[in-house]
Amino acid sequence: MSILRSQVVGCGSYLPARIVTNAELAQKVDTSDEWIVQRTGIRQRHIAADDEPTSIVGLKAAQAAIADAGIDPTEIDLIIVATATPDHTFPATATQIQAALGINGGAAFDVQAVCSGFVYALATADKFLTTGSARAALVIGAETFSRILDWEDRATCVLFGDGAGAVVLKAVPGQGTLADRGILTTHIRSDGRYKDKLYVDGGAGSTKTVGFLRMEGKEVFRHAVNNLAETVRYTFEQTGLSGADIDWFVPHQANRRIIDATADKLGISHDRVVVTVDRHGNTSAASIPLALAEAHADGRIKRGQLVLVEAMGGGFTWGSALIRW
Ligand code: UT7
Repeated sequence: MSILRSQVVGCGSYLPARIVTNAELAQKVDTSDEWIVQRTGIRQRHIAADDEPTSIVGLKAAQAAIADAGIDPTEIDLIIVATATPDHTFPATATQIQAALGINGGAAFDVQAVCSGFVYALATADKFLTTGSARAALVIGAETFSRILDWEDRATCVLFGDGAGAVVLKAVPGQGTLADRGILTTHIRSDGRYKDKLYVDGGAGSTKTVGFLRMEGKEVFRHAVNNLAETVRYTFEQTGLSGADIDWFVPHQANRRIIDATADKLGISHDRVVVTVDRHGNTSAASIPLALAEAHADGRIKRGQLVLVEAMGGGFTWGSALIRW
């Protein structure tokens, strides 16, 4: 049976030039390179310049993905930006990127699922493409978390970084089997009871301020490993696959210990895991497409391989997607 699949035809990313090491942070807050590396695996992060809002960081990743796809930007009729750090409360960052790319057809909008944002955006784009509502989609994860960090709170400011990644997806006929190239499954979940575990303490509709990120790290950690394993197990049940079938596991990059524990629970060997958290820190919605772009560019992820992505973030939100690259 012929069905439409959302095929990845291009992938790209952008990291701001400025690198902040753990040693530099240790000069500002009571922390150490040793603590940060041991607890998180993070060694450095990129921080956007003052004149680099999220739309610019996202635009640069989008341009790289479009160049990789080798298509004309005007072929794109759907742009979804996953971000929790939009330039403005409105308009959507996606519409600003749309204009900067010279696209004036189709639809552009943002999705807000914090660190799970890219998986949510991918799942949304997949629905548009596989129902024939769009033909080519640009899905971007772009963040400037440095702007919502309390730089005096050592428990959070050492964890995050800025950056963006993007994929271009095209609706292509497939056979409806696991051998098809494209997005094979997506699962997204949320549970708003955990709002207070990870949130920003401001907003246009409440305090009229932007606010700062607040997190109960230990609680988030505990839920992350369980929720992530659960969503992927559902994927395995649906497809009959197991961890041994996954060519590349590209998890959200929050903490090396979460990544390792999840891979172990799923039976995925560590040499099949793409890790960038050491160099990027946690870039929220940008972390998965940044990691995809790196492993795509250096030739690890090859056409036809099975790629599993998953993420968990504030809300709580979490989800996964299985892609034949
Ligand atoms: O992307 C969205 C999802 N987010 C996550 O997945 C983050 C999940 N959570 C985590 O990654 C970890 O919980 C953290 C890395 C945030 C914290 O690691 P932890 O092993 O859970 O440490 P902790 O919060 O229990 O803190 C242990 C100690 C505390 O001191 P006491 O109470 O034992 O004396 C903290 O005050 O470490 C202290 N501490 C620090 N020490 C040095 C907290 N932050 C720092 C720091 N430097 N930066």
